[in-house]
Amino acid sequence: MGSREIRKKFLDFFQERGHSIVPSSSLIPNDPSLLLTTAGMQQFKPYFTGELNPISDFGSRRTASIQKCFRINDLEEIGDNTHLSFFEMLGNFSFGPIGKDDPEHFGKDGYFKKSAIIWAYQFITKTLDVEPERISVSIFGGYADSRLRISKDEESRRIWLEEVGIPAEKITGRGREDNFWGPTGSEGPCGPTTEIYIDGVEVWNLVFNEYYCRTGGGEEKLEKLENPGVDTGMGLERLTAVLENQEDVFSTDLFQPITSKILELTRIQDNRLIRIQGDHLRAASFLIADSLRPENKGAGYILRRLLRRILAYQIKYDIHQGLAEETVKIVSQQYSPFYPELRDTKTIVKVMEDEEAAFQKTITKGLEELNKFSSLDGSQAFHLYETFGLPFELIKEFARPETIKNLNREEFEKEFITHQEKSRQGAEKKFGGHGLFLDTGELKALDKKEYEKVVSLHTVTHLLHQALRDVLGQ
Ligand code: ALA
Repeated sequence: MGSREIRKKFLDFFQERGHSIVPSSSLIPNDPSLLLTTAGMQQFKPYFTGELNPISDFGSRRTASIQKCFRINDLEEIGDNTHLSFFEMLGNFSFGPIGKDDPEHFGKDGYFKKSAIIWAYQFITKTLDVEPERISVSIFGGYADSRLRISKDEESRRIWLEEVGIPAEKITGRGREDNFWGPTGSEGPCGPTTEIYIDGVEVWNLVFNEYYCRTGGGEEKLEKLENPGVDTGMGLERLTAVLENQEDVFSTDLFQPITSKILELTRIQDNRLIRIQGDHLRAASFLIADSLRPENKGAGYILRRLLRRILAYQIKYDIHQGLAEETVKIVSQQYSPFYPELRDTKTIVKVMEDEEAAFQKTITKGLEELNKFSSLDGSQAFHLYETFGLPFELIKEFARPETIKNLNREEFEKEFITHQEKSRQGAEKKFGGHGLFLDTGELKALDKKEYEKVVSLHTVTHLLHQALRDVLGQ
């Protein structure tokens, strides 16, 4: 079964069961606490908390989507069988209050653990035709420390065991790191999860949002949500690989045309490098299509790192054959039927080529410079970043192994922060600390001319504010 069929079956299955199909939101979230969209539930946060009403917006308390997602934690791991930066997440959602939690009931009201678990199992074993013997699951086994106690998810265990009929030895209880979903360091809905595995590969995560996590005052608190919700996520690439009996996501029909094209153009024999380029070119296409541009901070810096890595390979392997243009065309052919924003390949390619033109020389020089070092510590690595724009992962990847024996990310990041702090202090001194900082802590003005311009604009903003107050009141 190919990815196209899986998409359709998933949405049809949940539509039949009263869910409204909601298009993917942008990869660039509205939520200022996030750099990029990492899960299907993000666009639905206000419905979980009750700030917005799902009935007026979707005509149902149930929704399903295929969401564009981006997860950055492990950029260095990309190239193995399963890691990707960009991926699509199939998800079904319920926003309380719970009506009938009955899988035979195809309404539009809220549901909870029983329907969510039984439907997930039916979808996998009946709709996708996976043999029940291949399935195992995990549930939340409970958590306690001196301040916080969360009880084991007995209800999910019971449903798996008694209603679905999964043998007890195939139900594993896991701790908070594995089977509890919630925002780390920020507030939001959270709760225990149950995960579904096919042949030992995790494919589906079902989250039961029973709590609201508060993090104020440095202390974490869980409050029972008035209306619990369901949030599920299943990676399309991984599911497709499992169903196509492929060992890795790059051999699926989602990636095959992309990686073949890259192989044809670059003639690089190293599988890992082909995969990295496939991942990065696909991800960068989606990010640019969602209007992100390369920058030195925030999400724009993530895009820049992807593009620089592609560029570094082009330099090292002397690739000239219009890699970006040809690959973006394939990505667009593959995905624009589902994501029309990918139709405009011209803009995507232009952003990539502009970045290439602007940094080709510096990166080339940086890679040469890197070669001269026989050993590298955090501060030298930072120097390479600052002078030649080499991101940490590029340094690690392109240096000789003995050169980076003593290099670790923490040291590099410490230098990064020290440097930011220094330039902030320097700038404060220079400009009297008044009004020239973005909320990221960076200086708005780069040189005297720009400084003067910023001062004028700043003054005008004060005047405008005063005028508005005069006219409209405080
Ligand atoms: N929000 C859950 C996840 O991303 C479903 O795994």
